[in-house]
Amino acid sequence: MTSIWDRANPQLRNLAVYEPGKPIEETARELDVDPGKIIKLASNENPLGPSPRAAKAMRAALESAQLYPDGSGFYLRDALANKLGFARENIILGNGSNEVIEFLAHAFLSRGDEIIASEHSFIAYKLIATLFGARTVEVRAPDFQPDLDAAFDAITPKTQIIFIANPNNPTGALISQDKIDNFISRMPDNIITVFDEAYFEFLDHPPDTLQYVRDGRKIVVLRTFSKIHGLASLRVGYGIAPRDLVEVLQKTRQPFNVNGVAQTGALAALNDDAHQRKTKQTVDAGRTYLQEQFAEMKLDFVPGAANFVMVNVGHGAAIFKKLLARKIIVRPLKGYNLPEWVRITVGTMEQNKKCIAALKKALS
Ligand SMILES: Cc1ncc(COP(=O)(O)O)c(C=O)c1O
Repeated sequence: MTSIWDRANPQLRNLAVYEPGKPIEETARELDVDPGKIIKLASNENPLGPSPRAAKAMRAALESAQLYPDGSGFYLRDALANKLGFARENIILGNGSNEVIEFLAHAFLSRGDEIIASEHSFIAYKLIATLFGARTVEVRAPDFQPDLDAAFDAITPKTQIIFIANPNNPTGALISQDKIDNFISRMPDNIITVFDEAYFEFLDHPPDTLQYVRDGRKIVVLRTFSKIHGLASLRVGYGIAPRDLVEVLQKTRQPFNVNGVAQTGALAALNDDAHQRKTKQTVDAGRTYLQEQFAEMKLDFVPGAANFVMVNVGHGAAIFKKLLARKIIVRPLKGYNLPEWVRITVGTMEQNKKCIAALKKALS
């Protein structure tokens, strides 16, 4: 009998499966404990939970769950456009910002094309490019700092998209405005640059990449409701780009890709300044605490700009397991070719303290 793999697209054979942070329920089952006892610091989620305004609006929206959602996402796109100083036609909604990455691949990647991404950068770019038969050219990131000059030098006639996560996940590194400006000023007009800004709202001095969208450059800026707004489960992200680019991406989108409850929740969360402020304060204090503790413990870490910190624990997989036994889930980074490191999401201060106490025991 022939193998089904002989019929499947050949690039699927070696395609790695995305490994998400280990779910709380799975861990609770394995340890045979109450899920409430597990602390998950593995997926850069909001430790304070969803925006309360969003939660309230979504409860009401459930009453209309029999209706298909507004596939165009009119009100949410309108609100985003108003907030950011764009037109609705500059915004595309995705089932998480991950889906917008997939739209880009549908629209611009074919077999034999290339994308450029930094080593140790968010793995979705490579996985999605591979799915579409495109090759990922990975450029070095000395000391975990993405090198935009090296990205520029890696351009070939096959290059279609350059992905820049800023700040990057899992390293936490942030690229400055100067470097971005310099890079964009040299970019040829036929290549799309994607700035993935999933953690934008956590930054004290965020770089301005939207100016380049306003200038009509081939730039896509990605943002999400999964992080500061605390709505990761709902899957809402968006891209901001010149109108013609959005028009192309819209062709690749399934009609009802963002559900109605999620659209309502995101719309309410967008105006919940109090929740965003509180989340940022919690994350700022928690990140400072974690980094101080790592320094005291003489552990190497990459100073983070977002709601997580990457720290060298010697053997990431072993420490992950030891922490798991203590009911704390972090993220081992072998899949990112960083076997010595783990990434720890900033939690509430109580969670951070428990995590550090467990880490000290795990390392002793
Ligand atoms: C850099 C980066 N981009 C995109 C995403 C995906 O976010 P979403 O939940 O919007 O798909 C993540 C999630 O962790 C991320 O870290």
